[in-house]
Amino acid sequence: MSFKDLIKNQMDHESLAKHAVEAKSVSLPTYSNFHVGAALLTEEGKVYFGGNIESSSYSLTICAERTAIFKAISEGERKFKAIAIASDAPGFCSPCGACRQVISDLCGEIDIVLINHAGELKVLKTSEMIPYAFGDKDLNNG
Ligand code: THU
Repeated sequence: MSFKDLIKNQMDHESLAKHAVEAKSVSLPTYSNFHVGAALLTEEGKVYFGGNIESSSYSLTICAERTAIFKAISEGERKFKAIAIASDAPGFCSPCGACRQVISDLCGEIDIVLINHAGELKVLKTSEMIPYAFGDKDLNNG
């Protein structure tokens, strides 16, 4: 990858992270009051926003990441480049185990961009977030 591409990628991550911060405003964390925002970037450059949405039957809550991913999939999107995640916590908010599985299954090997309150980014690949993931290959070999 050229230096120019490297810088461009970093810029993409930064603007995607800003969208994740914006996406917190569409979250509905009625019970935890913990706002999470996610911004999912498609291969064609479209961004899908997601916020966490909570139910009075707490376990029915959906995380911001899965909201964004399911919105995109249900609009026909299949190819993704990155997902950024921002939260109310001062540090980096890592996706939960369920979201890691869904990212692995539906987004593949993408960049997962975490942003903290200082505006710093941490970027990991899906396989770093969920090593030895269960997936299609396991079902097909079964
Ligand atoms: N949450 C997310 O939306 N994403 C994460 O990565 C971690 C947790 C939500 C779920 C719940 O609404 C609230 O944060 C507290 O767990």
